[in-house]
Amino acid sequence: MSLNPLQQYYLQQMGINVYLQRMEKPDNTDDVVAEPSSTFDSVAWETLRREVATCGKCELYKGRTQTVFGVGNPQADWLIIGEAPGAEEDRQGEPFVGRAGKLLNAMLLAIGLQREEVFIANILKCRPPNNRDPRPEEVASCKNYLRIQIEMVQPRIILAVGRVAAQNLLETDTPIGRMRGQRYQYADTGIPVVVTYHPAYLLRSPGEKRKAWQDLQTALKIYRESE
Ligand code: URA
Repeated sequence: MSLNPLQQYYLQQMGINVYLQRMEKPDNTDDVVAEPSSTFDSVAWETLRREVATCGKCELYKGRTQTVFGVGNPQADWLIIGEAPGAEEDRQGEPFVGRAGKLLNAMLLAIGLQREEVFIANILKCRPPNNRDPRPEEVASCKNYLRIQIEMVQPRIILAVGRVAAQNLLETDTPIGRMRGQRYQYADTGIPVVVTYHPAYLLRSPGEKRKAWQDLQTALKIYRESE
């Protein structure tokens, strides 16, 4: 058994304490957060951030406190994509800061990733009222922002959390239960996409956490194979 105590703690937080003995230790737990390389265009990134901040392409701008561009390392290997900001994210301007966000952090830590070293974004940059599902025209309005983010971050793997993220990213209506744990590809980029359950769903259905853990293991395997 070779998980370190911190990883074991976060697995417990995820509600996972099964078959740990058989698992491999992630080899990147001691990685330091990468320094930005000189090829990253930080001016373009900030320009995109400003463009998103003033976006009025769909009706959602009317109800937002602020846009939620994304957070983390813009040169991350791992890009995590969720659905849309909720109330707390709209207030703080940062994705996944509520209860679901805490679970997401635990899920990432369980595979040796700190929140700061990945990049986290959403399909939508503005909060839909009452946390309803994004509408097709809202997704279409926001799509280019995410596409450019993906092109700029150039992640080695994308983890889509939840049905809305997975279906919109992969342009499919396949049920999430059939998509999870497999290797997909984002558009024609060759960037692998792995789908798992949304942490908010896992909070409501803790019995499914084990499946999410399997998905994370699949993602880690695909990531390592891409080295
Ligand atoms: N759920 C999401 O999908 N994204 C967030 O940023 C917060 C909750």
